[in-house]
Amino acid sequence: MDSPFILINLKTYKEGMGSNAHRIAAAAETVAKESGVVIGIAPTFTELHPMSHHYSIPVYAQHIDPISPGAHTGHILPESVRSAGARGTLINHSERRLTLADIDACLQAARRLRLESVVCTNNDATSAAAAALGPDYVAIEPPELIGSGVSVSKADPGIIERSVNAVLGVNPNVKVLTGAGIQSGECVKIAIDLGTCGVLLASSVVKAEDPESVLRDLVSLI
Ligand code: G3P
Repeated sequence: MDSPFILINLKTYKEGMGSNAHRIAAAAETVAKESGVVIGIAPTFTELHPMSHHYSIPVYAQHIDPISPGAHTGHILPESVRSAGARGTLINHSERRLTLADIDACLQAARRLRLESVVCTNNDATSAAAAALGPDYVAIEPPELIGSGVSVSKADPGIIERSVNAVLGVNPNVKVLTGAGIQSGECVKIAIDLGTCGVLLASSVVKAEDPESVLRDLVSLI
């Protein structure tokens, strides 16, 4: 089995920008080295290059647009994300929804550029639809629990189980991540015991006074 994967989305939280982003990335690097757990970070676009330049942890974009190089002012070009050092990208995060056709086009761009793809979904039906498009990961995140401080692992383990079954039923090569309210080693353990390969999280680490101690707790039971 692959090493468990924890992906920290810094969103656009002020606690995840500039020197704060560096503090979180440094903590992630330390805990990843000690624990053997893969810990990635998804900073804002302007910090993709500094994060990938200064730290050995994998760096992910929070979004790409389904475009090719050309005249697309204000869009996020997949090639730019790649050349900034990103290992992969989130696609269709709840806070940055796309149409199914755009998700497919983003996945084609990600494959062309060898970017790992993490398609976010909101329920088991959309998890199955996303899996049919062949991403590397599907991340199931019930929107009502995102940023709520209530963990999906404890509040709604059924949605994790159903998403794992839905994804595996469609494409057994797609890995599943669990997200929304993940905050402790226990949440991560439940997610993994239910068949996912890790977690996608934000506020519990980004807004913590001491991100390193939260990360140590997150990896403590796996
Ligand atoms: O992308 C991760 C996210 O949407 C979950 O946020 O704050 O509930 O961990 P949070």
